[in-house]
Amino acid sequence: MTVKTIATTPYDDQKPGTSGLRKRVTHFQQPNYVENFIQSLFDSLPGKENMTLVIGGDGRYFNDTVIQIAIRMAAANGFGRVLVGQGGILSTPGASHIIRHYGAFGGLILSASHNPGGPDGDFGIKYNAANGGPAPERITDAVHARSLVITEYKSVDTPDIDLTRKGIQSVAGMAVEVIDPVADYAALMETLFDFDAIREMFASGFRMRFDAMHAVTGPYAKAIIEGHLGAGEGTVVNAVPLPDFGGGHPDPNLVHAKELYDLMMGPDAPDFGAASDGDGDRNLVIGRGRFVTPSDSLAILAANAHLAPGYARGIVGIARSMPTSAAADRVAEKLGIEMHETPTGWKFFGNLLDAGRVTICGEESAGTGSDHVREKDGLWAVLLWLNILAVRKQGVDEIVREHWARFGRNYYSRHDYEEIDSGAANLLMDDLRARLPSLPASGLGGREIVLADDFAYHDPVDGSTSSAQGVRIGFADGSRIVFRLSGTGTVGATLRVYLERYEAPDGAHDRDTQDALADLIALADSVAEIGARTGRDAPTVIT
Ligand code: G1P
Ligand code: ZN
Repeated sequence: MTVKTIATTPYDDQKPGTSGLRKRVTHFQQPNYVENFIQSLFDSLPGKENMTLVIGGDGRYFNDTVIQIAIRMAAANGFGRVLVGQGGILSTPGASHIIRHYGAFGGLILSASHNPGGPDGDFGIKYNAANGGPAPERITDAVHARSLVITEYKSVDTPDIDLTRKGIQSVAGMAVEVIDPVADYAALMETLFDFDAIREMFASGFRMRFDAMHAVTGPYAKAIIEGHLGAGEGTVVNAVPLPDFGGGHPDPNLVHAKELYDLMMGPDAPDFGAASDGDGDRNLVIGRGRFVTPSDSLAILAANAHLAPGYARGIVGIARSMPTSAAADRVAEKLGIEMHETPTGWKFFGNLLDAGRVTICGEESAGTGSDHVREKDGLWAVLLWLNILAVRKQGVDEIVREHWARFGRNYYSRHDYEEIDSGAANLLMDDLRARLPSLPASGLGGREIVLADDFAYHDPVDGSTSSAQGVRIGFADGSRIVFRLSGTGTVGATLRVYLERYEAPDGAHDRDTQDALADLIALADSVAEIGARTGRDAPTVIT
């Protein structure tokens, strides 16, 4: 094979410690930009020679261009084989499974998750390691360092691979196998869930709508929910992945999946509604007349997981990101299993999962998953819900209410202030941190403070510490306010304020969430001076 070495100039563009690149498409289209990142990555992966690399993405604009570049560079950099999803498609959890299932060296996942796509939208590249999870900081920091000094990249002169044709093709002597993106993943799901019970539930008239948001889960949900499980045709809507997601924002929240939400709250609601995001790792779950918050969903799935064959022996532990509500903690306590609180971001769950310390993990941002892969998994969460509904033969609302009656309810909401000035946002956080030690001992708004810190995580598996992960103010009654800046926004800064209030099992569970949290919302504004410092009198998004 003739390897070309092409001169290039370094880019200083990646934040150290982030698990990949996420930028505007136009940013990625700068000459040699993609090549610089991929070469910096390949240079940081000793032992890749003759190994297998998995490549796939969520089908967004620029997906196929980058796949062809990555394949040629993989050949020039000594990989032995590439597995690529047909049509360039692999969901994030699907890619995680393929990496693990075929014992690959690692994989490139092309996606900007729930961010909009199209020529003016966002694009992203991230690397997952052999365990199927996002690359550890040791690798991402090496890639960043390399990207500052790189002066050349390696590629080969070969025609594009035909991504529509399954089977093996050759690129300068390296085998490229185009694989069915769904089949292996569907087979895995069949080992975890009672497909017969769910099939029976659909056969007896259970109705569902799954909104794939013109993103990657379309083909997965069609094959599994309509195909294997026999839900009626048309159960999965917006099922064809489109480069611009049909102009939508593939974020399954109450703003962007409003149509589904309205349907589920209306008179013609089916029994169950669900959606997933751009790359298939997030989930939205709504019962008839009942939205389930991701924090509650995590707790309910953990409490009922044993009803699915894959978890019949029980779960060994639960992990949640720090801003996620403590609903799951109450389940762990009752089950007598380990509970871990980690920083925001799925990568922090990897060590706990690899070490067998936890089975189920989740984040308030609609990410839930288990030890079956090393990413959060939208469709997995939906299938576990279906399995639970099929076994318990109850509606979503009934199950949620019974959960609250047993464990209590954690009223919970997140208030986002998007695209605020970065300088002002950083100053707000710095000043807030500085004020923590001098918060009045008597408490705030009549609530006694039991915790006021900037969260630091000590990984119990590898001993590493991650500090400055968000300001927590915890009160004696179980209420909590958390402040942190988003690490994924692409314009300005996003301040996230997380609010939580606990209501005991025999308390009032039917209040409006924003009402129930009203005094905490006011407290958050006064303690962090949000209005004064951001110039905003209301959040951009409330979830
Ligand atoms: C957001 C979510 C976080 C999630 C991440 C990637 O990050 O809050 O839970 O892991 O997206 O999907 P943030 O923008 O808050 O840094
Ligand atoms: Zn995602």
